[in-house]
Amino acid sequence: MATAEQIKALLKSHADRDDQRFYSIALQVAAKEARKGHHNVATDLKLAIEKSQKSLRPVTSTKPTPLTQPLKGELKGLLELTPTGVRKSELVLSDEVRERLEHVLLEQRQKAKLSQFGLLPRRKLLFTGPPGTGKTFSAAVLAAELKLPLYTVVLDSLITRFMGETAAKLRLIFDHIQQTRAVYLFDEFDAIGTQRGAANDVGEIRRVLNSFLMFVEQDRSESLILAATNHPELLDRALYRRFDDIIEFQKPGPEQVKQLMSNRLVAFDTSSLDWEVLLFESEGLSAAEATRACEDAAKEAVLHHDAQINTALMKKAIQRRQAGRR
Ligand SMILES: Nc1ncnc2c1ncn2[C@@H]1O[C@H](COP(=O)(O)OP(=O)(O)OP(=O)(O)O)[C@@H](O)[C@H]1O
Ligand SMILES: [Mg+2]
Repeated sequence: MATAEQIKALLKSHADRDDQRFYSIALQVAAKEARKGHHNVATDLKLAIEKSQKSLRPVTSTKPTPLTQPLKGELKGLLELTPTGVRKSELVLSDEVRERLEHVLLEQRQKAKLSQFGLLPRRKLLFTGPPGTGKTFSAAVLAAELKLPLYTVVLDSLITRFMGETAAKLRLIFDHIQQTRAVYLFDEFDAIGTQRGAANDVGEIRRVLNSFLMFVEQDRSESLILAATNHPELLDRALYRRFDDIIEFQKPGPEQVKQLMSNRLVAFDTSSLDWEVLLFESEGLSAAEATRACEDAAKEAVLHHDAQINTALMKKAIQRRQAGRR
């Protein structure tokens, strides 16, 4: 039987709406019964706990989420409130990546409907892909679409700045994730995501990775947790299991490059551009590089050519970006 102390603690956690504590006490009661040799009671209790946890509906906070939550004290150096003045229409993606992001938006928007059936929307995502393919940009688009603030955690600086105390700092971040519904982007995630057994591993990174894994696993918040990396091959397999979806960003194909360039040059007359030449020259560029090439050509056109853009200007700008990659 549970002691009076345990029953009191159960009641208190119930009153506090602290589900995690509630279940942890219930599990302690089950463990105590098992130790006494009451295996049937212990098993029944454990099953009842599991069943109840599964059907647990997400707590819907009644507080509206403030759009700009000022960061206090220690959190200031850990989380960065990132502007999200971006539009979904600016994103140029493969059909597959677009569908996956749409899926996330749909589930988030319909989370109340899902929760009636004990279902949770996907909200822990891993973004992989080469530099400049729109991972950070997509995080901003998700936040903007969901009207949530975007907080960025740059892990590299977190680890170097707080050598020896990063795990404690991560706890502060995850407390904030629990308290303030928002989109949280762990950018340049390879800094902690490298394989735990890898040769270049240092103890600190391993500790941080282990804490990160634990925090992500325990997280029952309503926030979106995104991690972005250029080097998925370096990530520990254990990480993959913690995410609801893994979205692989790719470099754009010719159609997408044309779309990106047309978007970026919308203020100019592009009717004379020889797209066949430009797309041929652009092969291998990332979306970011294709965008930058347009900006270079546009500036040159404005400053030296009466704001007339032409194939030669674009070709030169693209070739400069290509040279920058080598
Ligand atoms: N898919 C895309 N559609 C439209 N614009 C894009 C796309 N990808 C990149 N860009 C442009 O390039 C800029 C940089 O891209 P972003 O920061 O999202 O790349 P990233 O994938 O996060 O790269 P990194 O791995 O280096 O962090 C964006 O701000 C945007 O202007
Ligand atoms: Mg990025």
